[in-house]
Order: sequence, then structure tokens, then C-alpha cells
Amino acid sequence: MQAPVHVVILAAGLGTRMKSRRAKVLHEAGGLPLVEHVVRTALAVAPPERVFVVVGCQAEQVRAAVSRYSVGFIEQGEPKGTAHALLVGRDRLEPLGGLLTVLYGDCPLLTPATLLRLIAQQQASDAAATVITTRLEDPSGYGRVIRDEQGGVLAIVEQKAASPAELAVNEINSGIYCFRSDLLWRYLPEIRPDNPAGEYYLTDIVGILRREGHKVQALFLEDSTEVLGVNTRVDLARADALLRARKTQELMLEGVTIRQPETVTVDCDVRVGADTVIEPFVQILGRSVIGRDCRIGTGSILRDVELGERVDVRPYTLIEEARLEDDSRAGPFARIRPATHLGAGAHVGNFVELKNTRLGARSKANHLAYLGDAEIGADCNIGAGTITCNYDGERKHPTRIGNRVFVGSNATLVAPIELADDCYVGAGSVITEPVPSEALALGRARQVIKEGWVRKRREATKP
Ligand code: UD1
Ligand code: MG
Repeated sequence: MQAPVHVVILAAGLGTRMKSRRAKVLHEAGGLPLVEHVVRTALAVAPPERVFVVVGCQAEQVRAAVSRYSVGFIEQGEPKGTAHALLVGRDRLEPLGGLLTVLYGDCPLLTPATLLRLIAQQQASDAAATVITTRLEDPSGYGRVIRDEQGGVLAIVEQKAASPAELAVNEINSGIYCFRSDLLWRYLPEIRPDNPAGEYYLTDIVGILRREGHKVQALFLEDSTEVLGVNTRVDLARADALLRARKTQELMLEGVTIRQPETVTVDCDVRVGADTVIEPFVQILGRSVIGRDCRIGTGSILRDVELGERVDVRPYTLIEEARLEDDSRAGPFARIRPATHLGAGAHVGNFVELKNTRLGARSKANHLAYLGDAEIGADCNIGAGTITCNYDGERKHPTRIGNRVFVGSNATLVAPIELADDCYVGAGSVITEPVPSEALALGRARQVIKEGWVRKRREATKP
């Protein structure tokens, strides 16, 4: 029978090298906090009741970042090192027996497939532990892996405690291990903080296990990107770029065209339908869901949007928390703010801003308008420069526009206001009273013509 597996994620450190007030594992890569990536990977190999996150620095925020996964938490209090982080959970973890997998919360690129390989290799062996290692051109900052002649792992030496010969080793410790739980708990208390940093190093367990006659083996990865640990902002940028490259590649393989993918930012949880085209320098963020056959024009930024099929987002358009139905169009240079809904085939053009507004099917607001807190029916034309005056300095008021309404250019609709079906508003009008169905509303000064006015003025002012 295979030994049951549980996973502990160490996420209690502040991350001094980030030079941040925020705990390191809360910093984001690929649009998610680092620790969230690790929790997701852990959940691919164990159910939530067998996954634990060790929290310490900003424990409340770290818990909140992953609370929706229903994993367990262990409080470390003051972080005194990676071995201490495990020891504080002894009461809860030791009774679980089987295999204990340790992941570090600052290692967001590890894939479930590699984690499964680690566990399988440990299951199949008589070793006390298996550790993932890789080779780095520049191993600085990482623990070095010291091997014996048979290829077994003899020790892991931390940078701060390493001799010059050990520093020259470029095989490094990923910080991802699978331990036989009984042996880990037997020897973990022997780790002492007798190193220049004064920390309880989990990596010392390897030397102890060897001294006690146990084997420790390595799972060596040729591709080192999966085990990149984030310690500085430079590492963070690298992890972010790698996660994003992974995401765009996944989308392209699912049938999405991405032009110059290295310029495109897509968060991990975004979904995009096949045959959609994403142009250069686009950002698609949060939990956006984009249908098939859409086009997202260059320079556009979309956050938490829902797009139907064949939606045309023209260049340099910002859309946030909005839904755009099939065949609708927005931009170039449009701004669509939260709680906005574009009906099927609706058009919003350049320099148009919408907020908390429904624009009905096939309705158009093509140039230079502000529509806020408005409900607009189907087949309307909202002229250039139309403004809904939704704010009186104290409160917001609604504008309701029926179907097939024509609002002339530069109309000012003072809310609360209602325009009934099939009415017209003359250009330049200030509308303060409701407009009935099929009426024409004019709210502007009548034009005056003064014949010969120029000639008379010229003669009157002659020297
Ligand atoms: C660690 C390893 C190093 C390895 C590297 C891989 C140790 C001693 N060293 O070094 O061999 O090459 O990771 O990325 O383990 N944490 C706690 N409580 C603590 C200390 C740390 O929960 O008391 C957490 C941190 O929040 C972090 C993780 O453990 O998520 C790793 O800590 P970090 O300080 O980044 O260790 P490294 O110096 O990177
Ligand atoms: Mg680290």
C-alpha cells in the first residue's frame, strides 16, 4: 500500500531581501500571490484537509489570500528558520504519518506533474527523503547539494555557512522535499541554530539523516525554471515573466492567436476562446472570460471582464468589471467602468466613458460621451458629446432612455431624467424634463440672425 501524503507549505517569513513591508509570499506573480500558486500545486497531490500553510509574518493577510481553498494553517509566531517552521506544527503533523512533502511559499513555478514525480520517486525507494535539485549557472543564494560517490545526497550547505569549495558547487536545493514522516519527526529536534544566521535550517536534516545511516536521494531537474525561488524583486519579475509565458503558450495551444506574446500580459485565471486574436501590448487581468472570435486591440487593458463572441475591442480601450455581449464593439480609446453592460451589437467609440450603464442591443455611442448610471434601450443613437449629468454634488441619479431614441450631439441630460421610446433630443439641448414617446425635445436658445451686422460694424468703427 502506498503511504498517504500530506503537504506543508512554509510561508511565515517576511522576506527581508524583498525590502518590502508586505510579506514576501503575498507579492504577486502571474496575477496571483506567490503562496496561492503553491497552494494550488499542493492541492493537485493532496486533499485540502492534508495541506497546511505555516504562517507567521502578516499571518492574517496570508490566511486571507488562500482561505477559499479550505487548507489548514499552522502559526509559527516569530520565524526562526525553515526547520522551526515545521517543528511548530509537530502536534498536528506527526500523527498523519506516511509521507510529508515540504514546499516553500516563495517557489511559485513548480508544476503538479513534477510534484507527483517527487512523491512517486520517494514512494518507490527505501530512502528517508527525496529532494528536488537542479543546476544553476549562478547558484548564489541557494543551498548547495553535496553528493557522495554513489550519487546519494550527503548534505545541503547554505550559502552563509558554505566553504569556498562548497560555494563552487552549482547543483542547488530547490526547497522541495518528500520525507518519511517518522524519520523526519525523529530527527528534526536535533537541528541547532549553529550557523552565522542563527536560524534553524531544515536543510541540516540531510546531514543528520546520513549520519544516522539513512539514504537521501535527489530528483534532478534539467529545467531549472520550475524551482526558481523568489527572494528579491528581480526574482519576482522573472517568476512573473515565466508564469506569463506559460499562460500565453497554453492559450496559443488552445487556439488563441497572440501577436508578439512577449509583450502581452495575461493573468493565470483568464480564459480565452479559440480564434480570438490578442494584439501586442494587451493586458487581460483578473478573472476575465473572453469568448471565441474576439479581437483585443493593441494597448487595451481588461480586468474582470466578460466578453461574448466576436466582440471587437479596438486599440487602447480600458474595460473593468463589465460584460460585453456578442458582436459588440468598444474603442479605440474607450473607457468602460464597472457595472457596465453592452448589449449584442452595441457600439461604443472613441473617448466615450461608461459607468454603471446598460447600453441596449445595437445602440451606439460613437464619440466623446459620458454615460453614467444610465439605462439605455435598444437601437438608440447617442450623439457625440452627450453627457448624463448624474451627480448633483451630493447624490447620483439615474437616466432612463427607451428604445429607438435619438439623442443629438452635445446633449446634456440632467438626471434624474427619462426619455421615452422613439423620441428625439435636438443637438445642444439641456434636458431637465421627461421627454414623452415620439416627441422632439429642444432645450436651447433659438438662433438669431442679424442681417448686415458685419458691414454696419465695420463702417461704425472706421477711423
Ligand atoms: C531556502 C533553502 C535553500 C534553498 C532555497 C530554495 C533553507 C535553510 N534554505 O533558502 O537551501 O536553496 O530555499 O529556494 O531552507 N519560512 C518560514 N519560516 C521561517 C523561515 C522561512 O515559513 O522561519 C518560509 C519563507 O516564508 C519562505 C520559505 O520558508 O517561503 C523559504 O525561506 P527563505 O528565507 O526564502 O529561504 P532561502 O534563503 O530562499
Ligand atoms: Mg527563498
